[in-house]
Amino acid sequence: MPRPTLSVIGLGYLGATHAICMADLGYDVVGLDIDAARVEALANGTVPFFEPGLDELLNKVLPTGRLTFTTSYDDVAAADVHFLCVGTPQRKGENAADTSYVDAAVASLAERIGKPCVVVGKSTVPVGTAERVAEQFAGRDVELVWNPEFLREGWAIEDTLHPDRLVFGITSPRGEEAMREVFAPIIESGVPVVVTDLATAQLVKVAANAFLATKISFINAMAEVCEVVHADVKKLSEALSYDERIGGRFLHAGLGFGGGCLPKDIRAFMARAGELGVDQALSFLTEVDAINQRRRARMVDLTRGLLDDSLSGRRIGVLGAAFKPHSDDIRDSPALDVASRLHGAGAHVTVYDPAALANARRDYPALDYAESAVEAATGADAVLHLTEWPEFVQMDPAVLGAVVRQRNVVDGRNALDAARWRAAGWHYRALGRP
Ligand code: UGA
Repeated sequence: MPRPTLSVIGLGYLGATHAICMADLGYDVVGLDIDAARVEALANGTVPFFEPGLDELLNKVLPTGRLTFTTSYDDVAAADVHFLCVGTPQRKGENAADTSYVDAAVASLAERIGKPCVVVGKSTVPVGTAERVAEQFAGRDVELVWNPEFLREGWAIEDTLHPDRLVFGITSPRGEEAMREVFAPIIESGVPVVVTDLATAQLVKVAANAFLATKISFINAMAEVCEVVHADVKKLSEALSYDERIGGRFLHAGLGFGGGCLPKDIRAFMARAGELGVDQALSFLTEVDAINQRRRARMVDLTRGLLDDSLSGRRIGVLGAAFKPHSDDIRDSPALDVASRLHGAGAHVTVYDPAALANARRDYPALDYAESAVEAATGADAVLHLTEWPEFVQMDPAVLGAVVRQRNVVDGRNALDAARWRAAGWHYRALGRP
Protein backbone atom coordinates (compact mmCIF):
# COMPACT_ATOMS: atom_id res chain seq x y z
CA MET A 1 0.00 0.00 0.00
CA PRO A 2 1.39 3.44 -0.84
CA ARG A 3 2.31 5.62 2.12
CA PRO A 4 -0.21 8.34 3.00
CA THR A 5 0.67 11.86 1.90
CA LEU A 6 0.68 14.49 4.62
CA SER A 7 -0.07 18.16 5.07
CA VAL A 8 1.05 20.21 8.05
CA ILE A 9 -0.94 23.38 8.67
CA GLY A 10 0.86 26.02 10.75
CA LEU A 11 4.67 26.15 10.57
CA GLY A 12 5.71 27.45 13.97
CA TYR A 13 8.03 25.58 16.35
CA LEU A 14 5.63 22.63 16.38
CA GLY A 15 4.48 22.46 12.76
CA ALA A 16 7.81 23.18 11.07
CA THR A 17 9.51 20.53 13.19
CA HIS A 18 6.74 18.03 12.53
CA ALA A 19 6.79 18.65 8.76
CA ILE A 20 10.57 18.33 8.53
CA CYS A 21 10.74 15.22 10.72
CA MET A 22 7.92 13.42 8.88
CA ALA A 23 9.60 14.17 5.53
CA ASP A 24 12.82 12.80 6.99
CA LEU A 25 10.94 9.62 7.91
CA GLY A 26 10.12 9.23 4.21
CA TYR A 27 6.68 10.83 3.84
CA ASP A 28 5.64 13.30 1.17
CA VAL A 29 4.75 16.41 3.15
CA VAL A 30 3.37 19.79 2.18
CA GLY A 31 3.68 22.45 4.87
CA LEU A 32 1.29 25.40 4.89
CA ASP A 33 1.43 28.73 6.67
CA ILE A 34 -0.41 31.98 6.00
CA ASP A 35 2.85 33.87 6.69
CA ALA A 36 4.47 34.12 3.23
CA ALA A 37 7.88 35.13 4.60
CA ARG A 38 7.97 32.04 6.80
CA VAL A 39 7.02 29.79 3.89
CA GLU A 40 9.62 31.35 1.64
CA ALA A 41 12.35 30.99 4.25
CA LEU A 42 11.56 27.32 4.80
CA ALA A 43 11.38 26.63 1.06
CA ASN A 44 14.82 28.20 0.75
CA GLY A 45 16.28 26.03 3.48
CA THR A 46 16.16 28.48 6.39
CA VAL A 47 14.30 27.69 9.59
CA PRO A 48 12.80 31.04 10.70
CA PHE A 49 13.58 30.42 14.38
CA PHE A 50 16.39 28.88 16.40
CA GLU A 51 16.07 25.16 17.00
CA PRO A 52 19.22 23.06 17.26
CA GLY A 53 19.69 20.69 14.31
CA LEU A 54 16.54 21.72 12.46
CA ASP A 55 18.27 23.75 9.74
CA GLU A 56 20.52 20.78 8.95
CA LEU A 57 17.58 18.37 8.83
CA LEU A 58 15.58 20.74 6.59
CA ASN A 59 18.49 20.96 4.17
CA LYS A 60 18.88 17.20 4.24
CA VAL A 61 15.25 16.58 3.21
CA LEU A 62 14.65 19.49 0.81
CA PRO A 63 16.75 17.94 -2.03
CA THR A 64 14.67 14.73 -1.84
CA GLY A 65 11.66 16.70 -3.10
CA ARG A 66 9.48 15.12 -0.41
CA LEU A 67 8.96 18.38 1.45
CA THR A 68 7.31 21.44 -0.10
CA PHE A 69 5.82 24.61 1.39
CA THR A 70 2.86 26.75 0.41
CA THR A 71 0.55 29.52 1.53
CA SER A 72 -2.39 28.11 -0.43
CA TYR A 73 -4.92 25.65 0.92
CA ASP A 74 -5.49 24.47 -2.65
CA ASP A 75 -2.05 22.84 -2.46
CA VAL A 76 -2.87 20.77 0.62
CA ALA A 77 -6.32 19.55 -0.42
CA ALA A 78 -4.97 16.32 -1.96
CA ALA A 79 -3.21 15.06 1.19
CA ASP A 80 -4.45 11.92 2.94
CA VAL A 81 -3.65 13.17 6.44
CA HIS A 82 -3.75 16.81 7.59
CA PHE A 83 -1.97 17.86 10.78
CA LEU A 84 -3.31 21.01 12.46
CA CYS A 85 -0.37 22.72 14.16
CA VAL A 86 -1.50 26.34 14.45
CA GLY A 87 -0.97 28.37 17.63
CA THR A 88 -3.48 29.01 20.40
CA PRO A 89 -2.07 32.07 22.18
CA GLN A 90 -3.51 33.68 25.30
CA ARG A 91 -6.28 36.17 24.51
CA LYS A 92 -5.36 39.76 25.26
CA GLY A 93 -6.54 40.77 28.73
CA GLU A 94 -7.97 37.31 29.46
CA ASN A 95 -6.79 33.94 30.67
CA ALA A 96 -8.56 31.99 27.94
CA ALA A 97 -6.86 30.68 24.81
CA ASP A 98 -7.52 32.28 21.44
CA THR A 99 -8.62 29.42 19.19
CA SER A 100 -9.34 31.61 16.18
CA TYR A 101 -6.35 30.23 14.23
CA VAL A 102 -7.67 26.69 14.70
CA ASP A 103 -11.14 27.75 13.56
CA ALA A 104 -9.77 29.60 10.53
CA ALA A 105 -7.54 26.69 9.50
CA VAL A 106 -10.39 24.20 9.83
CA ALA A 107 -12.76 26.42 7.84
CA SER A 108 -10.20 26.86 5.03
CA LEU A 109 -9.48 23.15 4.96
CA ALA A 110 -13.16 22.15 5.06
CA GLU A 111 -13.84 24.30 1.98
CA ARG A 112 -11.19 22.46 -0.08
CA ILE A 113 -11.40 18.85 1.04
CA GLY A 114 -12.80 16.73 -1.77
CA LYS A 115 -11.68 13.22 -0.83
CA PRO A 116 -11.73 10.96 2.22
CA CYS A 117 -9.01 12.03 4.65
CA VAL A 118 -7.85 12.16 8.24
CA VAL A 119 -7.53 15.45 10.14
CA VAL A 120 -5.17 15.29 13.11
CA GLY A 121 -5.31 18.07 15.69
CA LYS A 122 -1.96 18.73 17.35
CA SER A 123 -2.56 22.29 18.59
CA THR A 124 -2.96 22.71 22.35
CA VAL A 125 -6.64 23.53 22.78
CA PRO A 126 -9.27 24.02 25.47
CA VAL A 127 -11.08 20.71 25.92
CA GLY A 128 -14.17 20.74 23.72
CA THR A 129 -12.43 22.32 20.74
CA ALA A 130 -11.92 18.98 18.97
CA GLU A 131 -15.62 18.21 19.26
CA ARG A 132 -16.35 21.62 17.69
CA VAL A 133 -13.88 20.88 14.89
CA ALA A 134 -15.58 17.53 14.28
CA GLU A 135 -18.87 19.35 13.72
CA GLN A 136 -17.25 21.52 11.05
CA PHE A 137 -16.43 18.38 9.07
CA ALA A 138 -19.83 16.77 9.63
CA GLY A 139 -21.30 15.16 6.54
CA ARG A 140 -17.91 14.58 4.88
CA ASP A 141 -15.67 11.57 4.88
CA VAL A 142 -13.24 13.08 7.38
CA GLU A 143 -11.83 11.09 10.28
CA LEU A 144 -10.84 13.40 13.15
CA VAL A 145 -8.09 12.42 15.58
CA TRP A 146 -6.56 14.46 18.42
CA ASN A 147 -2.85 13.85 18.84
CA PRO A 148 -1.33 16.28 21.36
CA GLU A 149 2.33 17.19 20.98
CA PHE A 150 4.74 17.24 23.91
CA LEU A 151 7.89 18.53 22.28
CA ARG A 152 10.15 20.92 24.15
CA GLU A 153 11.79 23.79 22.31
CA GLY A 154 15.51 23.14 22.11
CA TRP A 155 14.86 19.37 21.90
CA ALA A 156 12.18 19.48 19.23
CA ILE A 157 13.66 16.91 16.82
CA GLU A 158 14.49 14.41 19.54
CA ASP A 159 11.02 14.81 21.11
CA THR A 160 9.29 14.41 17.73
CA LEU A 161 11.18 11.32 16.60
CA HIS A 162 11.54 9.72 20.05
CA PRO A 163 8.60 10.96 22.14
CA ASP A 164 7.91 9.58 25.62
CA ARG A 165 4.48 8.53 24.36
CA LEU A 166 1.99 9.02 21.54
CA VAL A 167 -1.60 9.87 22.43
CA PHE A 168 -4.37 9.27 19.91
CA GLY A 169 -7.81 10.66 20.72
CA ILE A 170 -10.17 8.89 18.33
CA THR A 171 -13.86 8.59 17.50
CA SER A 172 -13.67 5.31 15.56
CA PRO A 173 -11.23 2.40 14.94
CA ARG A 174 -10.41 3.93 11.57
CA GLY A 175 -8.75 6.85 13.34
CA GLU A 176 -6.48 4.55 15.32
CA GLU A 177 -5.57 2.54 12.21
CA ALA A 178 -4.63 5.71 10.36
CA MET A 179 -2.48 6.95 13.25
CA ARG A 180 -0.72 3.60 13.67
CA GLU A 181 0.08 3.70 9.97
CA VAL A 182 1.38 7.25 9.86
CA PHE A 183 3.39 6.91 13.08
CA ALA A 184 4.61 3.38 12.27
CA PRO A 185 8.31 4.27 12.10
CA ILE A 186 8.09 5.86 15.57
CA ILE A 187 5.86 3.18 17.12
CA GLU A 188 8.19 0.43 15.83
CA SER A 189 10.99 1.90 17.93
CA GLY A 190 9.02 0.98 21.05
CA VAL A 191 7.24 4.26 21.90
CA PRO A 192 4.15 3.62 24.08
CA VAL A 193 0.79 4.46 22.50
CA VAL A 194 -2.24 5.59 24.48
CA VAL A 195 -5.52 5.39 22.58
CA THR A 196 -8.41 7.32 24.06
CA ASP A 197 -11.37 9.58 23.31
CA LEU A 198 -11.14 13.17 22.03
CA ALA A 199 -11.76 14.84 25.40
CA THR A 200 -9.10 12.84 27.23
CA ALA A 201 -6.54 13.43 24.49
CA GLN A 202 -7.06 17.19 24.66
CA LEU A 203 -6.81 17.10 28.46
CA VAL A 204 -3.60 15.03 28.54
CA LYS A 205 -1.69 17.91 27.04
CA VAL A 206 -2.86 20.64 29.39
CA ALA A 207 -2.67 18.30 32.37
CA ALA A 208 0.98 17.52 31.52
CA ASN A 209 1.88 21.21 31.29
CA ALA A 210 -0.08 21.99 34.46
CA PHE A 211 1.82 19.27 36.30
CA LEU A 212 5.20 20.51 35.06
CA ALA A 213 4.34 24.10 36.03
CA THR A 214 3.20 22.92 39.44
CA LYS A 215 6.43 21.04 39.99
CA ILE A 216 8.48 24.14 39.17
CA SER A 217 6.34 26.38 41.37
CA PHE A 218 6.48 23.82 44.18
CA ILE A 219 10.25 24.00 44.36
CA ASN A 220 10.14 27.79 43.96
CA ALA A 221 7.73 27.97 46.90
CA MET A 222 10.29 25.96 48.87
CA ALA A 223 12.87 28.52 47.76
CA GLU A 224 10.76 31.29 49.31
CA VAL A 225 10.80 29.40 52.61
CA CYS A 226 14.52 28.67 52.29
CA GLU A 227 15.21 32.37 51.86
CA VAL A 228 13.81 33.27 55.28
CA VAL A 229 15.53 30.47 57.20
CA HIS A 230 18.82 30.68 55.25
CA ALA A 231 18.41 27.17 53.89
CA ASP A 232 19.62 26.02 50.48
CA VAL A 233 16.91 25.11 47.96
CA LYS A 234 19.46 23.53 45.63
CA LYS A 235 20.45 21.00 48.27
CA LEU A 236 16.80 20.55 49.22
CA SER A 237 15.92 19.81 45.59
CA GLU A 238 18.84 17.40 45.25
CA ALA A 239 17.76 15.52 48.35
CA LEU A 240 14.17 15.29 47.09
CA SER A 241 15.30 14.10 43.66
CA TYR A 242 16.66 10.78 44.96
CA ASP A 243 13.12 9.80 45.90
CA GLU A 244 12.00 8.11 42.70
CA ARG A 245 8.41 9.02 43.45
CA ILE A 246 9.39 12.69 43.21
CA GLY A 247 12.28 12.71 40.71
CA GLY A 248 14.64 15.57 39.97
CA ARG A 249 13.39 16.78 36.60
CA PHE A 250 11.55 20.12 36.58
CA LEU A 251 12.64 20.59 40.18
CA HIS A 252 15.22 23.31 39.49
CA ALA A 253 14.44 26.36 41.57
CA GLY A 254 15.10 29.77 40.09
CA LEU A 255 13.38 32.44 38.11
CA GLY A 256 10.58 30.09 37.13
CA PHE A 257 8.82 29.18 33.94
CA GLY A 258 8.05 31.25 30.87
CA GLY A 259 7.64 30.61 27.16
CA GLY A 260 4.73 30.24 24.81
CA CYS A 261 3.30 27.18 26.54
CA LEU A 262 3.38 26.65 30.31
CA PRO A 263 2.13 30.11 31.39
CA LYS A 264 -0.65 30.42 28.83
CA ASP A 265 -1.65 26.77 29.07
CA ILE A 266 -2.27 26.84 32.82
CA ARG A 267 -4.28 30.06 32.43
CA ALA A 268 -6.33 28.67 29.55
CA PHE A 269 -6.92 25.48 31.53
CA MET A 270 -8.25 27.51 34.47
CA ALA A 271 -10.45 29.56 32.17
CA ARG A 272 -11.88 26.43 30.57
CA ALA A 273 -12.46 24.81 33.96
CA GLY A 274 -14.41 27.93 34.93
CA GLU A 275 -16.61 27.60 31.85
CA LEU A 276 -17.20 23.97 32.71
CA GLY A 277 -18.15 24.79 36.30
CA VAL A 278 -15.15 23.00 37.84
CA ASP A 279 -13.00 26.04 38.56
CA GLN A 280 -12.35 24.83 42.12
CA ALA A 281 -10.56 21.78 40.76
CA LEU A 282 -7.89 24.02 39.27
CA SER A 283 -7.83 26.94 41.69
CA PHE A 284 -4.39 25.74 42.85
CA LEU A 285 -3.06 26.81 39.44
CA THR A 286 -3.74 30.43 40.41
CA GLU A 287 -1.18 29.91 43.16
CA VAL A 288 1.22 28.14 40.78
CA ASP A 289 1.05 31.21 38.53
CA ALA A 290 1.43 33.61 41.47
CA ILE A 291 4.50 31.83 42.88
CA ASN A 292 6.02 31.96 39.42
CA GLN A 293 5.40 35.73 39.11
CA ARG A 294 6.78 36.38 42.62
CA ARG A 295 10.16 34.93 41.62
CA ARG A 296 10.56 37.71 39.09
CA ALA A 297 9.75 40.38 41.69
CA ARG A 298 12.12 38.71 44.14
CA MET A 299 14.92 38.82 41.58
CA VAL A 300 14.47 42.58 41.27
CA ASP A 301 14.40 43.00 45.07
CA LEU A 302 17.53 40.90 45.51
CA THR A 303 19.35 43.05 42.94
CA ARG A 304 18.15 46.24 44.58
CA GLY A 305 19.33 44.95 47.97
CA LEU A 306 22.80 44.31 46.59
CA LEU A 307 22.97 47.87 45.31
CA ASP A 308 22.27 49.73 48.57
CA ASP A 309 18.53 49.68 47.96
CA SER A 310 18.68 51.84 44.88
CA LEU A 311 18.42 50.87 41.23
CA SER A 312 18.31 54.38 39.85
CA GLY A 313 21.25 55.06 37.55
CA ARG A 314 22.84 51.67 38.31
CA ARG A 315 24.34 49.67 35.46
CA ILE A 316 23.12 46.12 35.19
CA GLY A 317 24.41 43.47 32.81
CA VAL A 318 21.81 40.82 32.02
CA LEU A 319 22.92 37.42 30.73
CA GLY A 320 20.04 35.82 28.90
CA ALA A 321 16.87 36.94 27.09
CA ALA A 322 15.34 33.68 25.84
CA PHE A 323 12.79 32.03 28.13
CA LYS A 324 15.18 29.10 28.39
CA PRO A 325 18.51 28.05 26.86
CA HIS A 326 18.74 26.49 23.36
CA SER A 327 15.87 28.67 22.15
CA ASP A 328 15.40 32.14 20.67
CA ASP A 329 11.84 32.26 21.99
CA ILE A 330 11.16 35.28 24.20
CA ARG A 331 7.43 34.77 24.73
CA ASP A 332 6.73 35.50 28.41
CA SER A 333 10.47 35.38 29.06
CA PRO A 334 11.28 35.69 32.78
CA ALA A 335 14.68 37.16 31.85
CA LEU A 336 13.24 40.02 29.78
CA ASP A 337 10.49 40.61 32.34
CA VAL A 338 13.14 41.13 35.03
CA ALA A 339 15.25 43.26 32.69
CA SER A 340 12.33 45.56 31.92
CA ARG A 341 11.32 45.83 35.58
CA LEU A 342 14.88 46.94 36.40
CA HIS A 343 14.81 49.38 33.51
CA GLY A 344 11.46 50.69 34.78
CA ALA A 345 13.06 51.25 38.18
CA GLY A 346 15.68 53.51 36.62
CA ALA A 347 18.58 51.13 36.01
CA HIS A 348 20.66 51.07 32.81
CA VAL A 349 20.14 47.51 31.62
CA THR A 350 22.28 45.87 28.95
CA VAL A 351 21.18 42.45 27.74
CA TYR A 352 23.11 39.73 25.94
CA ASP A 353 21.77 36.40 24.67
CA PRO A 354 23.42 33.94 22.27
CA ALA A 355 20.26 33.41 20.16
CA ALA A 356 17.42 35.72 21.16
CA LEU A 357 18.91 39.20 20.67
CA ALA A 358 17.01 39.98 17.46
CA ASN A 359 13.67 39.00 18.99
CA ALA A 360 14.44 40.89 22.20
CA ARG A 361 15.47 44.05 20.34
CA ARG A 362 12.21 43.94 18.39
CA ASP A 363 9.90 43.51 21.40
CA TYR A 364 11.86 45.39 24.10
CA PRO A 365 13.35 48.37 22.25
CA ALA A 366 13.87 50.38 25.44
CA LEU A 367 16.59 48.05 26.74
CA ASP A 368 20.24 48.21 25.67
CA TYR A 369 21.85 45.23 24.00
CA ALA A 370 25.36 43.86 23.71
CA GLU A 371 26.99 41.39 21.36
CA SER A 372 28.73 39.41 24.09
CA ALA A 373 28.54 38.65 27.81
CA VAL A 374 31.71 40.67 28.39
CA GLU A 375 30.23 43.69 26.60
CA ALA A 376 26.98 43.42 28.61
CA ALA A 377 28.95 43.25 31.87
CA THR A 378 31.33 46.10 31.10
CA GLY A 379 31.00 48.80 33.75
CA ALA A 380 28.15 46.94 35.49
CA ASP A 381 27.31 47.33 39.16
CA ALA A 382 25.65 43.91 39.05
CA VAL A 383 25.51 41.00 36.62
CA LEU A 384 22.30 38.97 36.48
CA HIS A 385 22.31 35.41 35.19
CA LEU A 386 18.75 34.87 33.92
CA THR A 387 18.89 32.17 31.21
CA GLU A 388 21.23 29.24 31.80
CA TRP A 389 22.98 29.00 28.43
CA PRO A 390 26.04 26.71 28.64
CA GLU A 391 28.32 29.60 27.68
CA PHE A 392 27.23 31.46 30.83
CA VAL A 393 27.39 28.43 33.09
CA GLN A 394 30.90 27.57 31.89
CA MET A 395 32.15 31.16 31.86
CA ASP A 396 35.35 32.04 33.69
CA PRO A 397 34.25 34.53 36.41
CA ALA A 398 37.66 36.23 36.25
CA VAL A 399 36.97 37.35 32.68
CA LEU A 400 33.79 39.22 33.65
CA GLY A 401 35.44 40.31 36.92
CA ALA A 402 37.97 42.28 34.91
CA VAL A 403 35.34 44.46 33.17
CA VAL A 404 32.62 45.12 35.78
CA ARG A 405 32.52 48.08 38.12
CA GLN A 406 31.41 45.96 41.08
CA ARG A 407 31.62 42.18 41.36
CA ASN A 408 27.99 41.53 42.20
CA VAL A 409 26.33 38.55 40.56
CA VAL A 410 22.78 37.30 41.03
CA ASP A 411 22.20 33.80 39.72
CA GLY A 412 18.55 33.63 38.74
CA ARG A 413 18.90 30.04 37.55
CA ASN A 414 20.96 28.50 40.35
CA ALA A 415 23.28 27.20 37.68
CA LEU A 416 26.59 28.99 38.25
CA ASP A 417 29.28 27.42 40.42
CA ALA A 418 28.89 29.63 43.52
CA ALA A 419 32.23 28.60 45.06
CA ARG A 420 34.10 29.41 41.85
CA TRP A 421 32.50 32.85 41.52
CA ARG A 422 33.15 33.65 45.18
CA ALA A 423 36.77 32.49 44.84
CA ALA A 424 37.11 34.97 41.95
CA GLY A 425 36.10 37.78 44.27
CA TRP A 426 32.41 38.00 43.41
CA HIS A 427 29.59 38.72 45.81
CA TYR A 428 27.34 35.83 44.70
CA ARG A 429 23.62 35.74 45.45
CA ALA A 430 20.96 33.35 44.20
CA LEU A 431 17.26 32.73 44.63
CA GLY A 432 16.50 30.41 47.53
CA ARG A 433 20.08 30.05 48.72
CA PRO A 434 22.07 31.55 51.56
C1 UGA B 1 6.84 22.77 27.50
C2 UGA B 1 6.72 21.30 27.87
O1 UGA B 1 7.88 20.88 28.59
C3 UGA B 1 6.57 20.44 26.63
O2 UGA B 1 6.37 19.09 26.99
C4 UGA B 1 5.36 20.95 25.83
O3 UGA B 1 5.19 20.23 24.63
C5 UGA B 1 5.55 22.41 25.50
O4 UGA B 1 5.71 23.16 26.71
C6 UGA B 1 4.33 22.86 24.76
O5 UGA B 1 3.25 22.92 25.37
O6 UGA B 1 4.41 23.06 23.55
P1 UGA B 1 8.82 24.31 26.56
O7 UGA B 1 7.87 25.45 26.73
O8 UGA B 1 9.61 24.18 25.32
O9 UGA B 1 8.04 22.92 26.74
O10 UGA B 1 9.85 24.46 27.76
P2 UGA B 1 10.24 23.64 29.07
O11 UGA B 1 11.49 22.92 28.83
O12 UGA B 1 9.09 22.88 29.59
O13 UGA B 1 10.55 24.85 30.06
C7 UGA B 1 9.50 25.74 30.46
C8 UGA B 1 10.02 26.78 31.42
O14 UGA B 1 10.23 26.21 32.70
C9 UGA B 1 11.34 27.44 31.03
O15 UGA B 1 11.21 28.84 31.26
C10 UGA B 1 12.33 26.83 31.98
O16 UGA B 1 13.40 27.70 32.24
C11 UGA B 1 11.48 26.59 33.21
N1 UGA B 1 11.97 25.53 34.10
C12 UGA B 1 12.02 24.24 33.67
C13 UGA B 1 12.30 25.83 35.41
O17 UGA B 1 12.23 26.99 35.85
N2 UGA B 1 12.71 24.82 36.25
C14 UGA B 1 12.78 23.54 35.83
O18 UGA B 1 13.16 22.69 36.65
C15 UGA B 1 12.44 23.24 34.51
